[in-house]
Amino acid sequence: MAKRVLFDRAPAHDRGTTLIYSRIAGTGSYLPEKIVTNADMEKLVDTTDEWIYSRTGIRQRHMAAPGETTGDLAFYAANHALDAAGVKGSDIDLIVLGTTTPDIIFPSTACLLQHRIGANGCAAFDVNAACSGFMYALGVADQFIRSGQSKRALVVGAETLTRMLDFTDRSTCVLFGDGAGAVVLEPSSEPGIITTKQHADGAYKHLLYNPVGVSAGFRDEPNHGVRVMMSGSDVFKVAVKTLDRIVEETLEAAGMHESDIDWLIPHQANLRIIEATAKRLKLSMDRVIVTVDRHGNTSSGSVPLALDEAVRSGKIQRGQTLLLEAFGGGFTWSSALLKY
Ligand code: UT7
Repeated sequence: MAKRVLFDRAPAHDRGTTLIYSRIAGTGSYLPEKIVTNADMEKLVDTTDEWIYSRTGIRQRHMAAPGETTGDLAFYAANHALDAAGVKGSDIDLIVLGTTTPDIIFPSTACLLQHRIGANGCAAFDVNAACSGFMYALGVADQFIRSGQSKRALVVGAETLTRMLDFTDRSTCVLFGDGAGAVVLEPSSEPGIITTKQHADGAYKHLLYNPVGVSAGFRDEPNHGVRVMMSGSDVFKVAVKTLDRIVEETLEAAGMHESDIDWLIPHQANLRIIEATAKRLKLSMDRVIVTVDRHGNTSSGSVPLALDEAVRSGKIQRGQTLLLEAFGGGFTWSSALLKY
C-alpha cells in the first residue's frame, strides 16, 4: 500500500512555514452555437450514427462559425471563469493557454486574449501539448502560484479543431469538435491543487500528428495539407495503458487511494477509454464526468469544459477531490489531483 504522505509538493522554501497552494476560484466554458450531429456526418462521409456512437460514445459536436476563432471561444470561456471567481481581467497576473489551433502564428492566443480581457502587462503564453494542453497549462500556472510568482492566474484550454480536419477522412472527421474552458487559480494556504504530472514521448509522433507547418512547409493540397492524421486503434491501446499508469503515479505522489476520489474528469476522446480508466480507479461511471457524447473530442478544451459543466450543474461540490487527466498527440499525457 502506498505510504500516506499527503500533499507532497509544497515548495521547499515553504516547508515548515506557510504553505502556498493554488486553488480553483472559478470555472467557465464556451461552446459554439452550431451543432453537428452524427446524422449530419452521415451526409458528409461513409459513416453511420451506429458506428460513431458504438466506437466512441459521440452523438454530436459543436463547430465554430466562419470567422469565429479559438481566441473568441477562449474569451467567452475566460469571461465566465472571471465572473465565477468574482474578479476582473485586470486582476489577472498570468495567462497560460493550451491550444494546438492558435488564431494566428504569433502573437500567441494568450496575448490576444490578454488584451481583450484588459490584463495588459502580465505574462501570457500558449502551451502546445495537443489534447493535454490545458492540463500542462494548469501544471505550469500551479507552479507559478506555488512559487509566489503569480497571485491570480487564468488557465485556458481552447480549440477550433474542426479547422484542421479533413472532411473526406471518416476515420478522423467524426471525432473532433470545437470549444473552450477556463479556470481562475488563486493562492491558498490549503490545497487546492495537490499534485500535477506531465509527460511526453516523441517516439510516438507518427501515430497522431498534423504533417505541415511554417518550418516544415505547407503542401499544394486542400487546406494546404493541414489535417489530423491518426492511427486510431494504436493510439487507443497506448492511451488506455498510459492513463492507467499516470493515475497510479498521481495517487501515489499524493499518498492517496482510489477511494479518496469523488470525481474523475477525464479527457473526452472516447467513452471506451474513459470507461477503462474508471475501471482502473474502481469508480462507477456515475462518478465520472462525461461530455464526449455532446462535445466530441475538443482537445485542450475537453477537460475544462467537462469540469465547468459539472461545477455549474451542481454535481461537483466545494471540498470534493477531483482527478483530471488527458492524453494526446506527441504523445503527451498529464494529470492533476485537487480539492475543488
Ligand atoms: O485525443 C487524442 C487521443 N485520441 C484518442 O484517444 C483516439 C483513440 N482512438 C479511438 O478512439 C478509436 O481507435 C477510433 C474511434 C478512432 C476508431 O475505433 P476502432 O474501434 O479503433 O476502429 P478502427 O480504427 O480499428 O477501424 C475499424 C473499422 C475499419 O474498417 P475495416 O478496416 O475493419 O474494414 C475502418 O475503416 O472501422 C472503419 N471506420 C469507419 N467506419 C464507419 C473508420 N472510421 C469509420 C467511420 N464510420 N467514421
